[in-house]
Amino acid sequence: MELPFGLLNAMGLPNPGVKEFSRELKEARSIIDVPVIASAGGGTPEEVAYVAGMLADAGADAIEINASCPHVKAHGLELGSTPEDLFLLVREVRNAVKVPLFVKLTPMTNNISALGEAAMKAGANGLTAINTVKAMIIDVEAMSPILSNKFGGLSGPAIRPIAVRAVYELAGLGDVIGTGGVESWRDAAEMLLAGAKAVGIGTAIYRRGLSVFKEILDGLTRYLEEKGLTVKELIGRGRNC
Ligand SMILES: Cc1cc2nc3c(=O)[nH]c(=O)nc-3n(C[C@H](O)[C@H](O)[C@H](O)COP(=O)(O)O)c2cc1C
Repeated sequence: MELPFGLLNAMGLPNPGVKEFSRELKEARSIIDVPVIASAGGGTPEEVAYVAGMLADAGADAIEINASCPHVKAHGLELGSTPEDLFLLVREVRNAVKVPLFVKLTPMTNNISALGEAAMKAGANGLTAINTVKAMIIDVEAMSPILSNKFGGLSGPAIRPIAVRAVYELAGLGDVIGTGGVESWRDAAEMLLAGAKAVGIGTAIYRRGLSVFKEILDGLTRYLEEKGLTVKELIGRGRNC
């Protein structure tokens, strides 16, 4: 559902399954040669490791473990909500794949650094922050939750300050992909200033269309020129206080 400040979704991770997706990935790779980070999820660490292995075999350059989906029972969040469980999950996947491994973290914890540390200790190469935030909207006329699932994942501009804070807290632990509410070059610059080494864009594609990538890239390039900085020099610069 679209809201003035983002999206509330309860998609439930719809996908054609890893076998069909691997076929699609191979086909896509034969047409366009761009780096691909494939997201792997599942109900148990063994299942996630199996999916990750299939995706790596199909040509993914890196795997991102979805350890943080807030609205799918037994997939995602339960496997990655405590440092202990996350460590076991990441170690299982690490043993199954050789390609770089990222771990997507939930913001719904009082200590995201502890989750980040556990993921890195288990062999992750980097972290993605953040996934959506568990949320709810109630229709006051119908007097019931708008989503039949009751809860959904909130994304988009509403969660950007949470994502920036999470990136800031995690950046000392490893490479971080800053994701959450990025819609403009300013938002992307904010992520980089917080310490992100790359920026992820989700909801803005839905709200603004695919042109958002070029707009952000062009704006960021102009900003860097004006400031006389390289992108490397920008990364983490907002942490010097
Ligand atoms: C419709 C929708 C579907 C999503 N599906 C997934 C998913 O399958 N796996 C995952 O790790 N994150 C998923 N996400 C979370 C996004 O990748 C991202 O972490 C989050 O939405 C914050 O970034 P954004 O505000 O740029 O969308 C989904 C988000 C949306 C809005």
